[in-house]
Amino acid sequence: MFDITAYAATFIFLLLGVIVYRGPQNFAKCWLHLRSLKSPQRATTVPGLDPSDPVVIFPLDRKGNLDEIEDAGSLQQFLANLHAEYGDIASFYFTDQLCISIKSPELFQEHRTAFTKPYILFKLLEPLFTKESIVYAEESDVRKRRELTNRCFGFQALQNFIEIFNEITEHLVEKISSLPPGEHIPLNETCLGLSLKMIMLTVSGEYFKDDKTSTEFKKTYDLVWNEIESRFAGDIPPEGSGRIKTFKEAKEILFSFFGRIINNRRCNPPSDERAVFIDVLIKSDYQSEVLLADLETYLNGGFHASGYLFAWALFFLAEHDDIQEKLYNHVIDIVGKTGPVSMEHVAKMTLQ
Ligand code: HEM
Repeated sequence: MFDITAYAATFIFLLLGVIVYRGPQNFAKCWLHLRSLKSPQRATTVPGLDPSDPVVIFPLDRKGNLDEIEDAGSLQQFLANLHAEYGDIASFYFTDQLCISIKSPELFQEHRTAFTKPYILFKLLEPLFTKESIVYAEESDVRKRRELTNRCFGFQALQNFIEIFNEITEHLVEKISSLPPGEHIPLNETCLGLSLKMIMLTVSGEYFKDDKTSTEFKKTYDLVWNEIESRFAGDIPPEGSGRIKTFKEAKEILFSFFGRIINNRRCNPPSDERAVFIDVLIKSDYQSEVLLADLETYLNGGFHASGYLFAWALFFLAEHDDIQEKLYNHVIDIVGKTGPVSMEHVAKMTLQ
């Protein structure tokens, strides 16, 4: 089984979209539509849960259904249970925020034009992203910024990266294959490590190609992120505490990394065809604070979303032998047993 899983690592990044929409579980199908509410009382006709715990916890005003999410073991399992009970559209409370979760492809289609995201989703990330980040910008500004940079992550742009993606994944497969049978392989760490390298490349170019620089970056990033995660869990550090000082220091190191990347790209601008996200921002004269904020936001958003999706995809594939077999055969049919994977191959991957 493991051979197949390791092989899947070579191409699965490029299959993420397929898995999101065709996967066996509710994971990532559930899209949240959130609406601000002053009161924690239910204010929708959509069936779902009432807020079960009105206890006040700083900085979140109320828990809403946080206890049920914790009891379910994960947000994914909570949403799976919620939809099993209430159907394809269901409501619940995330703190005092009413959330509507949808699960069917038809409902996704109906809501695909949804654009503005509520501040609460990113509130606790502000100390890291800074207020200049795209996630806190006005809608018209966000649209302009997305119009400028979305193409950096499109199918066409990925042509420039497919070779290096093959190289990185082959390196990982070799590393995993050389481990003694039965050796524990940390799923999250492996998936996040792989996604970090790939997102770094697509966002900021080859600065992070080697293991040493990305490991150094990840060490500082982990310091900052662990603090943010503690805050998400409700553990807010008091003003002036050592934790705040450590966070600020680590964040400064992180942003100095970004400063070096930006300088490097300014001094060595690539040709237009090889331009990546950061080059597009530099060329369009973004103010340096906005540049740093969006670099952080895209790296963070990109590697978390992709890394965890990758980990969950492998987890569910491991649980469902039949789907794993089907996916394996589908890829072998298109790519053959040895790779490398090309964008033409990816375009043909339409597993249903
Ligand atoms: C499997 C992969 C991914 C999933 C499931 C995912 C999911 C999402 C969702 C649901 C949103 C909010 C809705 C939206 O603004 O459209 C979002 C926003 C965002 N994502 Fe991703 N994402 C993924 C990959 C990435 C990657 C690779 C990057 C960067 C390279 C990225 C950067 C961002 C940013 C910057 C935002 C905020 C955009 C804004 O405020 O307009 N994401 N992502």
